Amino acid sequence: MNRRPFIAGNWKMYKTGQQAVQTAANLAGLCSNLTDRDIMIAPTNLSLPLVARAIKNTEVKLGAQNLHFEKQGAFTGEVSADMIKDAGGEYVLIGHSERRQYFGETDALVCQKIKAALGSGLKPVFCIGETEEQREQGNTYLILDKQVSDGLKGFGLEQLSSLVLAYEPVWAIGTGKTASIEQVAEVHQHLRSLLEKLFSKDLADRTRIVYGGSVKPENVKELMGIEDVDGALVGGASLDAKKFINIIKYNEKGI
Ligand code: 13P
Repeated sequence: MNRRPFIAGNWKMYKTGQQAVQTAANLAGLCSNLTDRDIMIAPTNLSLPLVARAIKNTEVKLGAQNLHFEKQGAFTGEVSADMIKDAGGEYVLIGHSERRQYFGETDALVCQKIKAALGSGLKPVFCIGETEEQREQGNTYLILDKQVSDGLKGFGLEQLSSLVLAYEPVWAIGTGKTASIEQVAEVHQHLRSLLEKLFSKDLADRTRIVYGGSVKPENVKELMGIEDVDGALVGGASLDAKKFINIIKYNEKGI
């Protein structure tokens, strides 16, 4: 199955508006002929409209890092799917481990957020991953299966066609510790079978499953060589356009 590669940068709480625009414009310039893959950056919400303008009509797409599940209302400090869409967003990260860990996001909340994103025409990048402790206790699949089945509870096949699933082992995020090729291959294959079991073979075959956790120019080629790895969700190494382009062009010689 030929799935279009998806390479995304999660800029987390880094970069002011001006810095985000600068990096986005630099990146767009470096991506000009890359039409065979999806490239996305997710700056902070404040920078979305600015970055949208800077990457208009380029190969770089825009995403947000989070959203609220209600359409509107008295939710101080929150941003809705429609607002992200209005600001030029096409994708939205949902259920990132930092949201789960520091902001108490549960699988049920993640499910509501995916619903809100789909309802407004945003493409969800649904993040899952086990902690180091959960892996050591042999509970990796117990956790991942629960995250996936609860996060996607109640959805029909036709609703999930734009979904991207991101496997980010928590212990590999920002630590420099990448999961081994064997570990990534095993988990991604498992996740694809799980999608088949929960939905259909066709959806499982079409859904892009991307890896995140200390992806860098030095390891991306090997990771992308794994059959069930369809892309990368990059944190630290996406903050610099020159570094990130070496990840985006993972299949070019000499990188
Ligand atoms: P790092 O690439 O910095 O490990 O972060 C990964 C991540 O959290 C992307 O969402």
